[in-house]
Amino acid sequence: MHIDLAAIGATPAGGVCRLALSPEEAKARSLIAEWAREAGWSVTTDPIGNLFIRRQGLEATAAPVLTGSHIDTQPTGGRFDGAYGVLAGIEVLRALDDVRATTRRPIDVAAWTNEEGCRFSPGMMGSEAFAAVRPLEKILAVTDENGISVSQALPQVLAATPDASTRPLGFPVHAYIEAHIEQGPELERSRKTIGVVTGIQGSCRLRVEVTGEEAHAGTTRRGQRRDALLATTRMIQAIEQHVEALDPDDDVRLTFGMLKVKPNVPSVVAAWAFFSIDIRHANDEVMLRLAGQVESICREHAGGCAVKVTEIQRALATRFEGRAFEAVLEAARRLGYPFVEMPSGAGHDARQLACVCPSAMVFVPCAGGISHNEAESASSADLAAGTRVLSSAIVELANS
Ligand code: GLV
Ligand code: MN
Ligand code: MN
Repeated sequence: MHIDLAAIGATPAGGVCRLALSPEEAKARSLIAEWAREAGWSVTTDPIGNLFIRRQGLEATAAPVLTGSHIDTQPTGGRFDGAYGVLAGIEVLRALDDVRATTRRPIDVAAWTNEEGCRFSPGMMGSEAFAAVRPLEKILAVTDENGISVSQALPQVLAATPDASTRPLGFPVHAYIEAHIEQGPELERSRKTIGVVTGIQGSCRLRVEVTGEEAHAGTTRRGQRRDALLATTRMIQAIEQHVEALDPDDDVRLTFGMLKVKPNVPSVVAAWAFFSIDIRHANDEVMLRLAGQVESICREHAGGCAVKVTEIQRALATRFEGRAFEAVLEAARRLGYPFVEMPSGAGHDARQLACVCPSAMVFVPCAGGISHNEAESASSADLAAGTRVLSSAIVELANS
């Protein structure tokens, strides 16, 4: 099952490139729908293209227990980020079928649309629309760099599940549990098999546009230039140094992951540059203070260029608590795996779900803590342990 999914968008280096709303993602959706058809589970989608597989419960209209994650990847992604949570959910349904178990509530496995946010940014589109954290119209209007909008790209992936019926966004959910690889080194370092996730640190995404002026590389003196690329490098260095000085314990996660330059040729002074800033911290005040300081730092280093700073996504720190968290904790204890309660550094769809229902996450170790990397890897034993914890917690909740 895992190998079949990982083959869709497989890269020569052993990773996966399966961008949201791409033909590869459509193929993955079709494979999952095929598994559902074979097993007799129902397939539905909603207006943002979230895919739901349902194993019916004895009380068909009761609010379901929901699990899942995402099947889109980073362009140089691995085989486990997202895919594991969806496959673990499907494995839970199969295991219940195998022993002909019934549950009071239906159990739904979700594949949330565009978690990673590469072609269409920012990500978490499916879960944000579901939880009404961002208006659907705003999400559908987001365009890629060729001007194609989400609403234009969506029909292509929806065509992969022609028999799926549609359901509204934000139906009532009893509890949500997402299984995921840790994407960091803590579980491996502490030799624990299971992470019972206590919450997700806050994150803030900014985009900075710097506008200078095109000029000839051979004739324009330093003093006459308004070089957007040079100004950008000064800004990035200054922001990094500012954060470093304020954060001796190395708790702030600061990333400049994206840089674009125009006209991007050797003999013209860059007239325009764009870069992204991703700031994360467990303390919302610290994160928001830093985000608020970005604009003045950029202006200070603009060297005659115009600067525009836009916040494109903000998510405050989330705490998992209530019945979903308790069920995961209890399942980890009951099954006897070495476990630890831990926060998540990475963002997940569970953050949005936590706004609408009790939500929780199960982490398993990944080799070297490496993720968002084609080398991403995890052991079968750990993945199976995570799935057992997920299964046990889901069954508990589905009978409550
Ligand atoms: C999700 O992939 C994140 O960026 O945390
Ligand atoms: Mn993920
Ligand atoms: Mn990811």
